[in-house]
Amino acid sequence: VVLVSDVVQAIYLSLLAFTEPGDGVVFLTPAYPPFASAVAETGRSAVRCPLVRGRARYEVDVDQLGSLVRTRGCRVLLLCNPHNPTGRSFTRDELDAVASVALDADLVVVSDEIHADLTLPGSTHVAFASLGSEVAARTVTLSSASKAFNVAGLRCAVAAFGSDALRQRFEQFPAHARGSVSVVGMVAALAAWEQAGAWLEAVLAHLAANRDLVSVFAERHLPGAYSPPEATYLSWLDLAAYDLGEDPSVWLRANARVALSPGPDFGVEGRGHVRLNFATSRPVLEEMLERLGAALGARARPPT
Ligand SMILES: Cc1ncc(COP(=O)(O)O)c(C=O)c1O
Repeated sequence: VVLVSDVVQAIYLSLLAFTEPGDGVVFLTPAYPPFASAVAETGRSAVRCPLVRGRARYEVDVDQLGSLVRTRGCRVLLLCNPHNPTGRSFTRDELDAVASVALDADLVVVSDEIHADLTLPGSTHVAFASLGSEVAARTVTLSSASKAFNVAGLRCAVAAFGSDALRQRFEQFPAHARGSVSVVGMVAALAAWEQAGAWLEAVLAHLAANRDLVSVFAERHLPGAYSPPEATYLSWLDLAAYDLGEDPSVWLRANARVALSPGPDFGVEGRGHVRLNFATSRPVLEEMLERLGAALGARARPPT
């Protein structure tokens, strides 16, 4: 592996290393906001492939992915698995289908797996590079202890390369230009990954119970608005039916006094959506949900 300051930095470096200005970079949307910024700020062309809402979860539209990759000059697939903001933990079958697209179009896959340690009980994380040697050879896997162990800011992440050729292209930038890793960050990452397994188990149990509480709330107050996440501490809520405007977080902050992430930050697909972070104590989450329920309950019920 190559150590980098953080995952977002490694995304920027990967785009510079594996694409030319103007090349297409495809990613599944809605998307963690730095994906679009990285593509725009490096002068590449963003190709957004919307996830589609299935009956129980958001799903990859593989046909659309294949056609976008073919027609829009894509050189890189920027994958986020588990997916922020929907909380999807993609299955092996789904990832196999995505890998076929990558193989057919000779894409480099930059797989941001920073949320993998937060895969909730009942789901299994499948690393993209584990799909086979041909897939691994074109994959850069990015990770960090910063998310699951809450040590963001300590400046230490890892980039794992499935082939020497990819690593060499990444390392074309001098080490000083790539930035450095802090010793505290390295020590924290080692302590997290080597010694904090029991702590993480307890966190995951807490998060799963919080996820289930959000699910009960959503069934009651937001029918049809929500697919429970399989990983992360994020709930992606579709409030379009409540007619709260493009950015419902504004109305909810004023009326429920709860601050949620604005859906439009995640792209056009996020209009009418909000992202709720349930990585908090039970009493705080209960109060958030009570306030949201009271404010939404005062509005007309959406059409079912
Ligand atoms: C998908 C994803 N990638 C990367 C990051 C940030 O990682 P880093 O602080 O290592 O850049 C986050 C943080 O929210 C994230 O959700």
